[in-house]
Amino acid sequence: MKVALVTGASRGIGLAVADALRASGMHVVRLARTVREGTFERRTDIACDLTDPASVERAVGRVEQEPGLPDIIVNNAGVFFIKPLADTTYEDFTRTLATNLTAAFLIARALVPKMVKRGSGHLVTIGSISDYIGFSGSTAYAASKFGLRGMHEVIRQETAKSGVRTTLISPGPVDTDIWNAVDPDSKPGFTKRKDMMRVEDVAAAVVYAVMQPERIDITEIRLLPTIYTPRG
Ligand SMILES: NC(=O)c1ccc[n+]([C@@H]2O[C@H](COP(=O)([O-])OP(=O)(O)OC[C@H]3O[C@@H](n4cnc5c(N)ncnc54)[C@H](OP(=O)(O)O)[C@@H]3O)[C@@H](O)[C@H]2O)c1
Repeated sequence: MKVALVTGASRGIGLAVADALRASGMHVVRLARTVREGTFERRTDIACDLTDPASVERAVGRVEQEPGLPDIIVNNAGVFFIKPLADTTYEDFTRTLATNLTAAFLIARALVPKMVKRGSGHLVTIGSISDYIGFSGSTAYAASKFGLRGMHEVIRQETAKSGVRTTLISPGPVDTDIWNAVDPDSKPGFTKRKDMMRVEDVAAAVVYAVMQPERIDITEIRLLPTIYTPRG
């Protein structure tokens, strides 16, 4: 049975991705701060603060023990806020980088070389439209997401011809809790929540990428709502 590890899988996109991969027959490991630790039928939940390298190391060690080295990793966990540069604190910036980028690096560094040695595996990175467009108020978020794009490209180079596949999925707005503090429905210029994509739409893209025959490597997927308001 294939094993999939999904970070940030307690809610939102990560939860939908974990559910979809489990529904396709895999054993799913869900990492997040607020999951209750336990092993269930084709599911392992591990509480992990991805901003803490020791917590990541412990979680990765547990995964390798049981259910074993993953076949699929989905680096999904992330935080988001909108503030002008002048109001973005050092803490805002470093917390965003730690959650969105450094955690993905720690997970990839711990597990991808072992996938390469095995000759199979799939690293899926959940980027964002902010990994290729700069939006006002997104200094920290864009730095983290453009960083993820860069890391994805380099890991692609380093794993080329190893049998390991790498996919960057870059969604536009998806209706999740991540938007609660922004409250886009009350602000002009933002895509309204009813027009946003649903978590299942991103999960379907992940399933599409990882279910391809082994000869096909989906490098990148960009998703946008059909009715979309790009903010300035
Ligand atoms: N929603 C969108 O419009 C959108 C668009 C493009 C890309 N994305 C990206 O999609 C990903 C998921 O976003 P979402 O909308 O599903 O957000 P969400 O509903 O707020 O969920 C975020 C997830 O990340 C986890 N997380 C946050 N900080 C963590 C930490 N320190 N340690 C462990 N887990 C942590 C949360 O779990 P705990 O709180 O339980 O730890 C939660 O499971 C993010 O990378 C986001 O940038 C979202």
